[in-house]
Amino acid sequence: MKKKYDVLIVGSGIAGLYAAIQFDKSVNVLVLSKQARTVSSSSLAQGGVAAVLQHEDDSFDLHIQDTLIAGGYKNDVPAVEALIHEGPEDVRKIMAMGVQFDKGADKKLSMTLEGGHSRRRIVHHKDQTGKEMVDKLLKEAEKHPNIEIEENALICSITWVKGGFRAELLHDDEHTCVYASFCLLATGGIGRVYRYTTNPATATGDGIRFAYEMGAKIKNMSLIQFHPTAFNSPHSREQFLISEAVRGEGAYLLNNNKERFMDKYDERLELAPRDVVSRAIILESRRTGSNNFYLDITHKSRAFLYDRFPAISTACLERGVDIAVDLIPVFPCQHYLMGGIDVDINSRTTIPRLYAAGECAHTGVHGGNRLASNSLLEALVFGRRAALDIKKSLDAGFASVSLEPFEGDYSGAPLPEGLRTAIRDIMQRAYFVIANPAAVTQGSKRVEDILKRLKTGHFAMTADYCEAKSLATVAALILREAEEI
Ligand code: SIN
Repeated sequence: MKKKYDVLIVGSGIAGLYAAIQFDKSVNVLVLSKQARTVSSSSLAQGGVAAVLQHEDDSFDLHIQDTLIAGGYKNDVPAVEALIHEGPEDVRKIMAMGVQFDKGADKKLSMTLEGGHSRRRIVHHKDQTGKEMVDKLLKEAEKHPNIEIEENALICSITWVKGGFRAELLHDDEHTCVYASFCLLATGGIGRVYRYTTNPATATGDGIRFAYEMGAKIKNMSLIQFHPTAFNSPHSREQFLISEAVRGEGAYLLNNNKERFMDKYDERLELAPRDVVSRAIILESRRTGSNNFYLDITHKSRAFLYDRFPAISTACLERGVDIAVDLIPVFPCQHYLMGGIDVDINSRTTIPRLYAAGECAHTGVHGGNRLASNSLLEALVFGRRAALDIKKSLDAGFASVSLEPFEGDYSGAPLPEGLRTAIRDIMQRAYFVIANPAAVTQGSKRVEDILKRLKTGHFAMTADYCEAKSLATVAALILREAEEI
């Protein structure tokens, strides 16, 4: 790793990688990945990419309308228009780079349905769309000699310095620092602030903390999406998702009595937007006094199910459930953050030269609740927009970052046990699907105390400490906002 780069991209998910490959070879780009380069929320995305790729029975207006309805009309309309008008071109570009989406017998792209979509418009690679996209984008990035990807590089903090940024990091457990003239935060979600989430272990909200600590505007942190149908296994933090596409292909949602119940809550039944279905499950669990819920797709053939959902059927089998004959136990869990680092239409934060894209950014496209499969589209469109905006500044000539003499102090006490568990328990109790106002007030106070302790105590700058600080910051931002609702 060199000491100085034109562009630092934090995160190797779809937003970060797609942004990186927009730069020509005159721009040196460093992509930092907290663990292996393939570990990201993007890689876990099952459903697909929603995009209007045919206009026979679909249109941009219909996709915009579905996005606004799902978002409760709290969306930023120009950002939604950019997403939906520009997205299909990005999807075609990644297909030209080798990303394979499933096709039918007629060789045409096969489109699936998910909650809130009025048309079949979601292209997918079986039930592993994100992995396919990340793998191919990585292959593409690896062809670019100007892009360096460093793994096991956990950033402890980012500071604004003259002409850019200094990032202090733990790289293969060694403290070091790099300088960059521009920085794009693409660090993904915050799921690890909850006891149960679909997000990987890396999703501790680091990018949001860095932006917040530098004074950037953070917005709508309390807009959190809970996916209605994660595999129900209380023994694991990372919950295996049963894609909404399973309901898109006809699965029924059943309560403890093995009865369909969505008709009591919404006329769109199992394919209502996610917030509606998750809320219905919680209300139904209060009505029946049971947390047992199931997906039933046994009316489809085994051949279809095992071909269309290979990863889901295998993961269920490993958990003792054959989806062709058994009911799949499900329950909601944390899945996505609609809010985050506030950015404009070109992914610029309120700090000069600092950009954000993907889940850590708040573009406003999702409003109060993200429409299924709009997130990978957002990562492409706003990752590209960030890169193009940075390129404009680079082309116009810019003062590059100065390497200031710097000596970090990383010594201190070990992180006390149990702080991260305490934060997760607070969040799970206070702000899960339906907020609990008393627990929000009480939890907010406890989280602020933990954050203060982490900031003022003299702790060693370890990965655990850095991630605990991110989790406490994120939890504090969510609960502060939740207290105002
Ligand atoms: C899913 O497959 O249900 C998740 C896709 C998404 O989060 O949009």
